[in-house]
Amino acid sequence: MTQQSKTAKAVACANIALIKYWGKRDIALNLPAVGSISLTLEALKTQTRATFDPNLDKDYLIINDQQASESQRKRIEKFLDIIREKSGNRLFAEVRSDNNFPTGAGLASSASAFAALSLAATHASGLELNKKDLSGLSRRGSGSATRSIYGGFVEMQRGKDASGKEDFAIQLASQDYWDLRLLILITSKEEKKMGSTEAMNLTAKTSPYYQDWVNSSGKDLVEMRKAIREKDFEKLGDLAEYSAMKMHALTLSSRPPVLYWNSTTLELIEQVRALRHDGIPVYFTIDAGPQVKVISLPDHINTLKSHFEFFPGVENIMESKLGPDVELIGDDN
Ligand code: DP6
Repeated sequence: MTQQSKTAKAVACANIALIKYWGKRDIALNLPAVGSISLTLEALKTQTRATFDPNLDKDYLIINDQQASESQRKRIEKFLDIIREKSGNRLFAEVRSDNNFPTGAGLASSASAFAALSLAATHASGLELNKKDLSGLSRRGSGSATRSIYGGFVEMQRGKDASGKEDFAIQLASQDYWDLRLLILITSKEEKKMGSTEAMNLTAKTSPYYQDWVNSSGKDLVEMRKAIREKDFEKLGDLAEYSAMKMHALTLSSRPPVLYWNSTTLELIEQVRALRHDGIPVYFTIDAGPQVKVISLPDHINTLKSHFEFFPGVENIMESKLGPDVELIGDDN
């Protein structure tokens, strides 16, 4: 029987980790060495359309209107192979993926990209997965993508089993649970020096603090769950800064050391601390790049926006509320 072509489209939001994922216990299956907790962000979205088509002679991959780069192509083809294997659909695919946030803004888009691709491509391949399995599948594309399957407050669980069957994300609370606001302060649009996958593997091999990072992660997760449960903003912010700093201490203690910050990053850290000293509830977190993500509450977000808008070195500001689960947005067939 000849197979029909089938298309599906999905949209997923990016997320920002409050308790960071850094390090893998299995590189091939992409199993994290630590659990992580994140906020899903409404303002940063990836929309992906996938078609498995009998007329294609290879996978066609378009990202933000451009052919995928060699490294993107390898990573996406490998991911599509997993879906082909699971679904039994052997056709090649056309994938078109677009971010609504500025390209090259230095923001990690692999989370929203692989979450949207997981839903669109499984659906187009004829495979219907529940959210748990979709999250586990997204992990094969990118660890942080597991969390973008859900909206609101999300935990990626570190499993014990070597198969990875326990390594998927769960929702801790929905986006309506607590109205947190974020500002993303872009300090540089340059491509980052070393991607997170490579940097975390280097850290695991060379940082003398790596084992302590892994050992101390359980406590951070327990405390963050409690802060979310009790809606304790000071605790949430304090733990988020602690986890970010601990992660950057790891990259700094690798050989060769990896420094993701620029001088504006450092100035922004000081600004956030000074604003807090003046009574504004505001905290920061930083991922594998120089951008600073500011976490606050609705009553203070305009004051913070005005404060950072013309701050030297801040090239652009994005504002976000918490966002929803990944969802299908239409099936052309
Ligand atoms: C600093 O999810 O990009 O953003 O699984 O290798 O694709 P891979 O890594 P990735 O790492 C994210 C690292 C981080 C922290 C976080 O999001 O938890």
